[in-house]
Amino acid sequence: MSETILIIGACGQIGTELTQKLREIHGTNNVIASDIREGSDEFTKSGPFEIIDATNREQIFSVVQKYKVSQVYLMAAMLSATAEKIPQKAWDLNMTSLLIILDLAKEKHIQRVYWPSSMAVFGNTSPKVDTPQKTIMEPSTVYGISKVAGEHWCNYYHEKFGVDVRSIRYPGIISWKTKPGGGTTDYAVDIYFKAKQEGSYECFLDKNTRLPMMYMNDAINATIQLMEAESSSIKIRTSYNLTAMSFTPEEITSEIKKHIPDFNISYKPDFRQDIANSWPQIIDDSHARNDWNWQHEYNLELMTKEMLKNI
Ligand code: SER
Repeated sequence: MSETILIIGACGQIGTELTQKLREIHGTNNVIASDIREGSDEFTKSGPFEIIDATNREQIFSVVQKYKVSQVYLMAAMLSATAEKIPQKAWDLNMTSLLIILDLAKEKHIQRVYWPSSMAVFGNTSPKVDTPQKTIMEPSTVYGISKVAGEHWCNYYHEKFGVDVRSIRYPGIISWKTKPGGGTTDYAVDIYFKAKQEGSYECFLDKNTRLPMMYMNDAINATIQLMEAESSSIKIRTSYNLTAMSFTPEEITSEIKKHIPDFNISYKPDFRQDIANSWPQIIDDSHARNDWNWQHEYNLELMTKEMLKNI
């Protein structure tokens, strides 16, 4: 059956590349991009685009009806660092939008939902190395609290109403087309831009802070692979652990220096250090690998080559 897909938050870091890829697969006119504001002309005029406030049910519902949308990717969210500054707004955006979409799916207006969770669901009391799929989850950030709650809402709607909702706990996502905004892992994107454009970077995390990460191409492939998997192979309806690599600011710096030997880094940790310290260092994503054959392609070396080539 042909799908009509709505992406909410299509101008964001992941949304931009997800929209492009889904348009290649399903055809431009079957993939409706939407965001709270217009993106670049190139993006908003290259296919169907609608202005949607993700917390406004009427707006979403009218677009769903207009295009007979069958699948929704809900990518609009406030990330960890920004959410600490405006907690109530973050909670409202992250939760209200999800409950609207789950309700539309419960009412059978849409058939399948994708919603991103994050490694931020884990906290100081979770194991930091090989963090299991199921373990203690006591997040220390507003963002993490919203993601844990969201995961349980997804599972609840699946169990109770048969809603086909699928989710991934993303690690830090690294990309060059669209920059992330307001996350704790943003340093791993900024560092490439500064290395290339200015030759130096002041890092807001300490040199030994190890975090799980992934190159955008892998994140997009994983997302689409999960959405295309047979429903019966999806055993987890909260959200899947997922990772590709883990590194520290010091390690990414050495990799960049292989290409830009004079690159200079300094460290000035800020409030984001506490957030990073509460997250896993290395994640165990064996459930995703077993249930729907997840495999990553990019490691630190390959990703660094791609990033520096494209910036
Ligand atoms: N990249 C996100 C953040 O730093 C984690 O999900 O907030």
